[in-house]
Amino acid sequence: MSQETVTMTDNRTGKTIVCPILTGTHGPPVVDCHGLYSELGMFTFDPAYVTTASCESTITFVDGENGILLYRGYPIDQLAEKSSYLEVCYLLLYGELPTTEQMDHFTANIHQHTLLNEGLQRFYNGFRHSAHPMSMLVGVVGALSSYYYDAMDIQNPEHRNRSALRLIAKLPTIAANSYNYLMGHPYVYPRNDLGYVENLMQMMFAVPTQPYEFNETAIKALEVVLILHADHEQNASTSTIRLAGSSQAHPFSCVAGGIATLWGPAHGGANEAVIRMLQQIEHPKNIPDYIARFKDKKSNLRLMGFGHRVYKNYDPRAKIIREICHQLLKELDAQQQPLFEIAMELERIALSDEYFIERKLYPNVDFYSGIILRTLGIPLNMFTVIFAVARTVGWVSQWMEMMNEPQLRIARPRQLYTGAAERDYVPMAER
Ligand code: SDX
Repeated sequence: MSQETVTMTDNRTGKTIVCPILTGTHGPPVVDCHGLYSELGMFTFDPAYVTTASCESTITFVDGENGILLYRGYPIDQLAEKSSYLEVCYLLLYGELPTTEQMDHFTANIHQHTLLNEGLQRFYNGFRHSAHPMSMLVGVVGALSSYYYDAMDIQNPEHRNRSALRLIAKLPTIAANSYNYLMGHPYVYPRNDLGYVENLMQMMFAVPTQPYEFNETAIKALEVVLILHADHEQNASTSTIRLAGSSQAHPFSCVAGGIATLWGPAHGGANEAVIRMLQQIEHPKNIPDYIARFKDKKSNLRLMGFGHRVYKNYDPRAKIIREICHQLLKELDAQQQPLFEIAMELERIALSDEYFIERKLYPNVDFYSGIILRTLGIPLNMFTVIFAVARTVGWVSQWMEMMNEPQLRIARPRQLYTGAAERDYVPMAER
C-alpha cells in the first residue's frame, strides 16, 4: 500500500509539503509534520497540546469517544477485577503480565527498597505541621537523589530500573510519613510481610499501642483505586515527566516535577476539590443553584470531577469506582451516605442538562474516588497523595520507555511570538 500522506500548501507561496500519516494499533492516526519548519518555515500551533501526539508509546491506550482504557492492551475493568496493584506495576513497567516466578522476584526487589534512609525521616521536621502533604511529597521525592546516588547513571539500564523500583517502593513510605507527621503520630516502618496496599494502610494508620486490624473490603477498595490511577497515557503530569526526562534529569527529579503538576485542581487535585464541592453543596436541594453557577463562566466555578480532555464519554474508571462506592458504603460506613447521595443526584442532574451534554462533560475518575478515600479514613489533603502513590508506576514506566528510545532528544517546543517588535533601549531620563 502506498504511503498515506497529508499535503499542506502555503497559499502565499504555493509551496507544498507532503506529510506521512502514521497509524498505530488503536486510536486515530497522526500526521508526521516534523518537516514543516524546514520545508515551509512554519510551526504548528496547538496551545495546551489539544491535538498533539507528543510521542509514540506502547504502554496505555485511551479511547475518549468510547470510554476505553487499556494498560498494555488489557482492559482496565478486567485488571481492576482480577489483578493486584503490584502485578499492574510489573505489567506497566515491563509490558507483559508476570509469571509466578517473575512476580516473586519483582516483589522481592520492591521489598528491598521500601525503607527510607533515617536522614530523610528527619527531612519532614522542616515542614510546618499545617503544610499540605503534597508539598512534602515534592520536597522529599526531590531529595531522594541526595541519599540514593548509587544508581544515578541514567544511561545504565540497570540503574534506571533500580531507580524506578525505588520510587515505586518508597512512595507509600514517604506518603505515610507525611500523614503521620501532620497528625503528630510516630512514623510506622514498612512491613515486607504485607501486600503493597496492606503495607500502605498500616504505615498510615497503625499505632504502636495496639495491633492494626485490617479490613479486607477497605484493602480491596484501595487496591482498585490504585490500579485505576496507575497510568493514563500523556496526561499533564506524565508529560512533565517526559519533558523533564528528555533533558536527562534523574527520575527522582522528574517524579518530583510530576507530583507538583498532579497537585493542580484541574488534574490530580480534583478528587480533593470534589469533596470540598460536595460539602459546600451540603444538601441535594442546593444542587440546582450550584449547577447554574457551574455553567456561569463569571462564577469561575466548575463542576469538579466532571469533564475530561480525552473522555467525551463516561470515564471507564468512574464507572468502576462508582460501583465500589456503593459496595463500600453498604459494608463500611453509612456516614458517607449524604455526600454520596449528593454526588449521585448531582451526576443525575448534570447528565440531563444541555450544557453538560453538548460539551460532552461526564464524571471522571475523581468524581467518586474521594468518597472512597474519605470512607477509608484518609483525610482530604491526602487524596492527591494517594493519587501520586498510584501514578508513580505510570510516570516511571513512561520515563523508562522514553529513555529506551535510541535517539533521545530534549523536548523543546516553539511559540508564536506576538510581543513587541525589535526596538532600541531608551535611557530612563528620556522615557
Ligand atoms: C484528571 O489528562 C488526564 O488523563 C487526567 C486524568 C489522569 O488520569 O491523569 O484523567 C486525571 O486530571 C481528571 C480530570 C480532573 N479534573 C477535574 O475534574 C476538574 C474539572 N474539570 C475541568 O476543569 C475540565 O473538564 C478539564 C480540565 C478536566 C478538561 O478541560 P479541557 O479539556 O481543557 O476542556 P475545556 O476547559 O476547554 O472545557 C470545554 C468547555 C468549556 O466551556 P465553553 O468555553 O466551551 O463554553 O466545557 C466547559 C468549559 O467551560 N467545562 C466545564 C467543566 N469542564 C469543562 N464547565 C463546568 N464544569 C466543568 N467541570
